[in-house]
Amino acid sequence: MRILSGIQPSGALHLGNYFGMMKPAIELQDKGEALYFIANYHSMTSLFDAEQRRRNTLDVALDFLACGLDPQKAIFFRQSDVPEVTELAWILTTLTPMGLLERCTSYKDKIAKGISPNHGLFAYPVLMAADILIYDSNVVPVGQDQKQHVEVTRDIAIKFNQQYGETFVIPEPEIRGEVARVPGTDGEKMSKSYGNTIEIFGDEKAMRKKVMSIVMDSRTPQEPKPDADRNIAIQLLKLVAPADVANETEARLRAGGLGYGDLKKTLFEHYWNHFADARRKRAELAANLDYVEKVLADGAARARAIARTVLARARKASGLE
Ligand code: ADP
Ligand code: TRP
Repeated sequence: MRILSGIQPSGALHLGNYFGMMKPAIELQDKGEALYFIANYHSMTSLFDAEQRRRNTLDVALDFLACGLDPQKAIFFRQSDVPEVTELAWILTTLTPMGLLERCTSYKDKIAKGISPNHGLFAYPVLMAADILIYDSNVVPVGQDQKQHVEVTRDIAIKFNQQYGETFVIPEPEIRGEVARVPGTDGEKMSKSYGNTIEIFGDEKAMRKKVMSIVMDSRTPQEPKPDADRNIAIQLLKLVAPADVANETEARLRAGGLGYGDLKKTLFEHYWNHFADARRKRAELAANLDYVEKVLADGAARARAIARTVLARARKASGLE
């Protein structure tokens, strides 16, 4: 089984990225041949500062390795180190109906937020399809918001196979129900673009402040809260604390008597402890950047070997060769 996923270097990674995508991806590295990459081509659709892209790319590499991506098990690389993927994106783009891309909600959401779209942003799902198809991927672990893009990939692959003969493996998304949508400090989906994130490796003081700023209602501590399971801090606590602690805290909130300030303090302590080992590992890696570069270079060489054979298959099937 081949597993593939990517993450954009568009800013500091947060709990939504970790529980929605990185943790499932790290767990899957034992289940098959995994390929994980830093989607720096994709980041060009919305980030226009070259130095920042370079810095963010390194940060994602450090974050992912610190969180447990094992380069002995998974192939870890920069997207742009396999430029073959852009050729495949062109080939696929010619079989992609405009309507398929016009229906993509992630594109529509960005437009609705007032982002003035470039062609790359519109064509983004086609490059993502190329990412997935060029490695004969079977399984794509992502958060809920990326499901539609995997469906677009399937549509394009099926169309190519019908037009030019069996060439591509049809991939499946893998989405963990319980972490499909990790809430941010305001209760919306946690996202870099909404300013509601709690970072995995944020500064202690700043992160404490963010946790304490999680939006609550105005009920008094004494009031019972039958909707305790919908409380944002409880939902986050379930991710970072042992199950018995989270359940007991939820029960206390439900019964009444637990104040929101205390609840958030509990959340902060568990969040901070949850990533203590990863934080140490990250500091070690940051002091050993040659090693990190070597991991990415080795990963690129291994990924590229696969990409070349699949691209050759597609070139042949479509009459380019
Ligand atoms: P952001 O919304 O912060 O820009 P990305 O779109 O770069 O995050 O997402 C990277 C990966 O993390 C994707 O697989 C995405 O589905 C997952 N992800 C992002 N935010 C969340 C969230 N709040 N809950 C679950 N998964 C998420
Ligand atoms: N679009 C994904 C995101 O924003 C990142 C990504 C690019 C990706 N190519 C991919 C994810 C291929 C899975 C497979 O999160």
